[in-house]
Amino acid sequence: MKRDLQIGLMAAIAAMIPGLFLAALGIGGGVPVIVTVGCGVGIVVAFGRRWHRQAVARTEHQTTHLRSAIGVAATAGGIPTYWTEHSITPETLTQIQQLIAALGMRSVLELGSGLSTLMIAHAFRRAGGGKVLSLDDDARWAGQSTATLEREGLASFAEVRVAPLKDVTSGGRTSPWYDLSSVAAEARFDLVIVDGPPAWKGDRLARLPALYELRKHLGTNGVLVLDDAGRGGEAEIARQWQRDFPDLHFRMVDVGRGLFVASVQRSTLDLLP
Ligand SMILES: C[S@@+](CC[C@H](N)C(=O)[O-])C[C@H]1O[C@@H](n2cnc3c(N)ncnc32)[C@H](O)[C@@H]1O
Repeated sequence: MKRDLQIGLMAAIAAMIPGLFLAALGIGGGVPVIVTVGCGVGIVVAFGRRWHRQAVARTEHQTTHLRSAIGVAATAGGIPTYWTEHSITPETLTQIQQLIAALGMRSVLELGSGLSTLMIAHAFRRAGGGKVLSLDDDARWAGQSTATLEREGLASFAEVRVAPLKDVTSGGRTSPWYDLSSVAAEARFDLVIVDGPPAWKGDRLARLPALYELRKHLGTNGVLVLDDAGRGGEAEIARQWQRDFPDLHFRMVDVGRGLFVASVQRSTLDLLP
């Protein structure tokens, strides 16, 4: 509201400048008033159109969000789907699940457990196979995720392992990242979901090591997705990955908080919007 008032005040001042200029030149006969009113109307129309476009975009975004949340809840088979600001968004999860189904993916490695783990495990149970291995640095949260999987009878479709953060030198910097010692060197995954470590703890490039550390774990049709790619830090990570992995194919998908996709096969990108 305060920002709207500031913009309105600045626009009013801007609208008066040409009229005042003409008046200062001695041009009278109502011309400065007509010019000022004309400029004012022009500015109001321009801002009105901009605000209208923004409102429509926000409404469309919310509609997609709501529709996806309803869709996920409808297919959740009674599992409570409780979204927090830390959870993956329902529209991003829907996009990932479409990719899993389209490519018949069966092995998923996830960084950062939660609702995504639960819902992908549930999709695997419905599909009759598949497994998610989810690494979490927070033992308490990992325990909670494991308890939910067990309560829902999904323990054979997902496992949450505690992977404490330790200093890793990757992509030209050293930062705390997951200890991968519990992941077998020969393990290959169809899909890697990067939704941790939590960037909100202070390091905006916290997820940078993911592709450097996990490239060797991607299968021949492997895909790695980076959630929250609309944020400044993740956008920087995406640029660096594109520069450093010329053998991979990339796509930024405008879904949820932004999903950046890195794929071994170019054809996989055709499945994305
Ligand atoms: C972005 S979250 C992971 C979200 C998860 N993929 C999901 O869809 O729910 C990254 C980390 O935040 C921590 N976390 C703390 N509170 C959480 C919450 N309410 N939901 C999810 N993660 C939480 C966990 O350690 C988790 O690994």
